[in-house]
Parts: sequence; structure tokens; C-alpha cells
Amino acid sequence: MRLGIWAAFAFLSVPAFASQPGASNPLEAPLRDLQFGQLNFLHTTDTHGWHAGHLLEPSFSADWGDYVDFADRLRERLEAEGKDLLIVDTGDRIEGNGLYDASEPKGRYTFDIFSSQHMDIICSGNHELYKQNSSENEFLITAPAYADSYLASNLDIVDPETGELVPLAPRFKSFTTKNQGIRIIAFGFLYNFDRNYNNTVVHRVENTIKEQWFQDVIRRRDVDLFVVTGHSAIRSEEFKAIYTAIRSVQWDTPIQFFGGHWHVRDYKKFDSKSYGLASGRFMETIGFQSISGLATNVSSASSISFSRRYIDNNLFSLYHHSGHNSSSFHTARGQHISKSIQEARKGLNLDETFGCSDRDLWMDRVRYPSNDSVFSWLDQQVFPGVVNDSRRNDKPRLVLTNTGAIRFDVFKGAFTKDTTYIMCPFTSGFHFLKDVPYNRAKHLLQLLNSGGEIFEQVDQSLAMWKMKTPQQLGSHLDRHGAQQMASPQEHEQVALSSHRDLNPGYTTVDDAGRDGDDTIHSPISFYRQPNCIQSLINSQNIDLEDATVDVVFNEFIQPWILLALKFLGLDYSENDVDKYMPDDNMTTLIARWVSENWGSKC
Ligand SMILES: *[C@@H]1O[C@H](CO)[C@@H](O)[C@H](O)[C@H]1NC(C)=O
Ligand SMILES: *[C@@H]1O[C@H](CO)[C@@H](O)[C@H](O)[C@H]1NC(C)=O
Ligand SMILES: *[C@@H]1O[C@H](CO)[C@@H](O)[C@H](O)[C@H]1NC(C)=O
Ligand SMILES: *[C@@H]1O[C@H](CO)[C@@H](O)[C@H](O)[C@H]1NC(C)=O
Ligand SMILES: *[C@@H]1O[C@H](CO)[C@@H](O)[C@H](O)[C@H]1NC(C)=O
Ligand SMILES: *[C@@H]1O[C@H](CO)[C@@H](O)[C@H](O)[C@H]1NC(C)=O
Ligand SMILES: *[C@@H]1O[C@H](CO)[C@@H](O)[C@H](O)[C@H]1NC(C)=O
Repeated sequence: MRLGIWAAFAFLSVPAFASQPGASNPLEAPLRDLQFGQLNFLHTTDTHGWHAGHLLEPSFSADWGDYVDFADRLRERLEAEGKDLLIVDTGDRIEGNGLYDASEPKGRYTFDIFSSQHMDIICSGNHELYKQNSSENEFLITAPAYADSYLASNLDIVDPETGELVPLAPRFKSFTTKNQGIRIIAFGFLYNFDRNYNNTVVHRVENTIKEQWFQDVIRRRDVDLFVVTGHSAIRSEEFKAIYTAIRSVQWDTPIQFFGGHWHVRDYKKFDSKSYGLASGRFMETIGFQSISGLATNVSSASSISFSRRYIDNNLFSLYHHSGHNSSSFHTARGQHISKSIQEARKGLNLDETFGCSDRDLWMDRVRYPSNDSVFSWLDQQVFPGVVNDSRRNDKPRLVLTNTGAIRFDVFKGAFTKDTTYIMCPFTSGFHFLKDVPYNRAKHLLQLLNSGGEIFEQVDQSLAMWKMKTPQQLGSHLDRHGAQQMASPQEHEQVALSSHRDLNPGYTTVDDAGRDGDDTIHSPISFYRQPNCIQSLINSQNIDLEDATVDVVFNEFIQPWILLALKFLGLDYSENDVDKYMPDDNMTTLIARWVSENWGSKC
């Protein structure tokens, strides 16, 4: 293990001169250096509007302006040595943070902020496609801003002007790197996503790779490296199919994959000349990949090597890896971007405080149920307090939500307008079925949490994992990669081992070992969470066995609820469903509960 810096006092904080005002200063920590190669990449994925960085978490407190400076500084450093740097983003740039979600229209500020970063390859995620408007924004704003780098290998859109179905962007690109003359063919895929609005068409990957254009491109001989970017888990059937298709016609051309979607840090070895990198979520991680020993337009291939790092997105790391410090790192351009983010946050009033939390509430870091679980807080306090529709107030009700509806932890301190979007960025509201016999409805939760494949057997699109948070998916396959999902026993072991000098954080284990994270942390454990949680409300003094209840649920899980009720012998259809509290959504309800129940002094 090569350590760049060993800090004896790991909790010293480092003065930082950009980031957002009020963001925590990063902490000094021992770092592993980046291993530069002939060709180098920086990769972001699933940023979900977190371009201001994490104001409350020192490890992730750098913002998009800092990242722009980092990319420029690293490029200067690498190009001075004749090396190349390419920048990649694999989608889900929107939804998940007030900076995107709180504006009218949504994304009013984020498109300009994001596109101030140069990109060599960029593609769409699933989140860009849920709404007609957001996919049209990709077509009309982001793709033109990245005319030479946006790729849509299996994605079409109905052109809002002509009404014709057209590729959202070119299917692939072929280019030669500036300094090394490495000939690259790049793709930009999306996994087999099927809940997009009907103005886009996502072609299934297994069909796209049979199309003539793809079959022609993968047979080209003027190529030193294939770069397959995609909004897809790197351990997915989709990436496997693409890998197999290329390998079957190019037995030893190197292939580099960049993926995401599961919100985990992960690195997969396909073979000795093919690797895949997944670079986390929410601007926590800047993925770094280097490759050496590639053939170029003038030299032939030598012994090939790949190296990856997951950079914690804070200025301590960014200064170190770029070889700069606080006085030399920042540029007027980067600071201008940070300033625009600050102004947008201010204009959107994202620091408006609804109340003050006296403790941290965790999604995955604690067991459910428990006092520090955000899900226990929701089903025991929030839902009983605020889920009531004046038309149905006297009825007992069963309120169900999937855990995937919650996207982030709540930290001790101010619960702000920004927090509401960070916790729950989904625009969908609650729906309900009236007067459902309780003795059937009471089995819903168990079915949703353990029904397994019976749902998928009836409707292929209803896999149970879709109700979970993406980072929980990292554990739905039996494999080593990504964050550990610890059992309680493992949790104890972690607590016992001595990591006193280290800050807790990512301790990733992947196909290349345990040395992927740039920052050496003590481990944090994660626990499996249920697919769904529920609250039974207003049921006092009622003999439930003979009673009927309103079944209230967030709109997203409606298909599972209807099918589960069929399994329970109750034949409801979409026509029986009505909106519940039609003017509210989970975001407004949580904000209301917080302002009614938590003091406002922090
Ligand atoms: C859709 O996006 C465009 C461009 O950002 C905006 O002008 C329009 O108001 C948006 N419409 C809705 C319904 O959000
Ligand atoms: C190799 O690529 C470099 C960089 O694109 C270019 O400048 C050079 O002319 C190329 N050389 C040959 C022999 O094609
Ligand atoms: C898309 O869905 C809308 C309803 O949301 C419907 O009015 C429209 O006809 C659909 N378009 C196509 C092409 O199916
Ligand atoms: C930054 O580095 C330069 C050159 O090594 C040095 O002169 C300067 O004092 C450093 N500034 C800080 C704040 O450490
Ligand atoms: C949970 O909180 C309640 C109320 O504050 C307390 O009585 C109980 O002991 C706590 N339970 C645990 C397991 O900490
Ligand atoms: C209904 O919910 C509102 C908040 O949405 C709350 O203020 C009110 O007390 C609740 N009423 C009942 C009867 O639960
Ligand atoms: C929830 O509803 C409110 C009020 O209608 C709206 O302002 C807000 O944007 C919605 N939440 C999300 C995440 O879209």
C-alpha cells in the first residue's frame, strides 16, 4: 500500500477556500495516491443534483466548481507528461437534491452548472426519462451542450418539434486521444429500463447489440480500446452481454466499462484486458481509472495494466491528487461556478429551516426497526401524525411505502428545505383503495417483503428489488463487490478492532482488493432493510378482524399493491384507486411533520 500522506492527527481539518459557504472543512487523513497511466479517466455517476456537494459531511464537501478545477489541474499535470485525461458521466444527474428539484421549472440552475464541466463521454440515466419534460431537457439542453460527447446507444426520443422518433444522441463515437493517439470507440448505454414516460424508447440491450450498426462497429480494426459507458450496474446482464458481444469478435482488444445506477463503489474484472468501474453516488465519489500498455496509432501494445481509485470528493483529496494546495488549486472559473451554485441555493431558499433534529436518522447504518432508523421514525411517528385525508379521517388506515422512496439519511441539526428533497425527491403522491377487508390487507406487508419471485412470474416488470434503495441492490446479488452489508456479528467485530486514528467512511472491497478508496477510513457497516414499511393508523377501539381499512400507499408501489391483493383473493384494478391527500406528496408531509413536532432552534 502506498500512502501519500500519513497524518498523525487524523481529525485536523484542512483550510479550504472554495466549496459552499458553511460546508464542513475536510479532515486530514492518510491517502493512497492515484497511479497515473498512459490514459486516465475521471468518472462521476448518479450525482442526482448534489452539485453543491455535501455541506454537512466533511468527506464529501467539495462542490462542482471544485471538481471542474480538479479536472483542469489534473489534465495540466498529466498533459505535461504527455498523458491523456478523459472525463465521463454516466447519468442520473437530476432528482435528489433541492438544487435541481426546488426550482420552477426543475433544473433551472443545474443544467448550466453541470455543463461547465468538460465531458468526453456522457449518457442518460433512468431518472432523466421518468417525465416527458426531463427527457426533453436532455434532448434540447444537455445533448446539444455535449454535441461531441453525449451518446445514446439504445435510447430514442420523440422529437417535440417534429413528432418523429429519433436517437436522443449519436449511438457511438470514435476518436483519437490528444497526446497518446489512442484510438477509442465509445458507447453510451442504458440498462433495460421500462418505466420511462412514453416519449422515449429504451431498446433492450440484448436487441441493440444485434443491430447492424453495432455489429459493424465492434468489428472495426482501427481501435486500441473500447470504452463502454452506461447507466447500468457493472455486474449486470446488460454489461455482460455487451462484453460477450465485443469479445466474440475482438479476442484481445482492451475494453473499459464505466457504470453506476446501484450507487456503490465497485470494480469488476471481466478478463485481464477488461474492467468495469462504478463510482458511487451523490457527488461523494470521483472515480479514477488509468490504463497503461495500450497500443496507439504509432506504437504497439505492451504489457497492459489497469488501476482504479475512488476519490472522496473533498478538497484535501483534490489538492493532494492534483499536486496543488489551497493557494494554487482554484481558478476564477471554478470559483465562479461555486458562486453560481451558492446564488442558486440562496435564490431557492434551500437553507430555510423547518425544524431541528436532535439525532441522526439512518437508512442503512442501523437495523430496522430501531430508534435511529429513518424508517422507524417514518412508520411510528411521521405517518401516524400527518397521513390523513379530510374525506376519510374517521377511517382506520394502513399506510405503506417502499423503502426506496427515501434516498438519504437525516443528520442531527437543521432540517431544511434542501433536506426534504434530499430525503425524498419523488414527485409522486399517495393513492388509496377504500374499505379493504383488514383480515386480507394485514398480509400485504409480509407479501411485499418476502413475496419474491411470484410477483415477477406474473409480471416481468415487477421484480421486488425495484422497491428498494439503489445502494441496497448492491447486496441483492451474492457477490463480493462494493460495500459490505454486514451481519450484526460483523458489526461487533468492526467495533472491536482499533481504528482510532481513522475517520469512518467507505472501505470498499472489489475485484482488485481492498485498496480502492483514496482515503483510508475505519469501516461503517450497512444493514439489509425491508422492501416496504407500514403504519396502522386510527385503529383504536375497533375489532380489526371484521373491519375494513383504507389501504394508502405511495403511487410508485401501486402495481405491487394491486397484484399482492390479487394473491390475497381481492380483485382490485387501477379504476378502484383514488388519490389520497391530492395536494401533498411525501416531501410536503415530512416537512409538515417536522415543523409541527421539532423545535426550530438548532
Ligand atoms: C419543462 O421544461 C422547460 C424548459 O426547462 C420549461 O420551460 C417548462 O416550464 C417545463 N415544464 C414543466 C411542466 O415543468
Ligand atoms: C496519432 O495521433 C495523434 C494524436 O491524435 C496525431 O497527432 C498523429 O498525427 C497521429 N499519427 C499518425 C501516424 O496517425
Ligand atoms: C403517452 O401517454 C399519454 C398519457 O400520459 C397519452 O395521452 C399518449 O397518447 C401516449 N402516447 C403514446 C404515443 O402512446
Ligand atoms: C502552496 O504551495 C506553494 C508552492 O509550493 C507555496 O509557496 C505556498 O506557500 C503554499 N500555500 C499554502 C497555503 O500552503
Ligand atoms: C428508543 O427510544 C425510546 C424513547 O426515547 C426509549 O424509551 C427506548 O429505550 C429506546 N430504545 C432503544 C433500543 O434505544
Ligand atoms: C392531519 O394531518 C395534519 C397534518 O397534515 C395534522 O396537522 C392534523 O393534526 C392531522 N389530523 C388528524 C385528525 O390526525
Ligand atoms: C411535492 O408537492 C409540492 C407542492 O405541490 C411541490 O412544490 C414539490 O415540488 C413536490 N415535491 C417534489 C419532490 O416534487
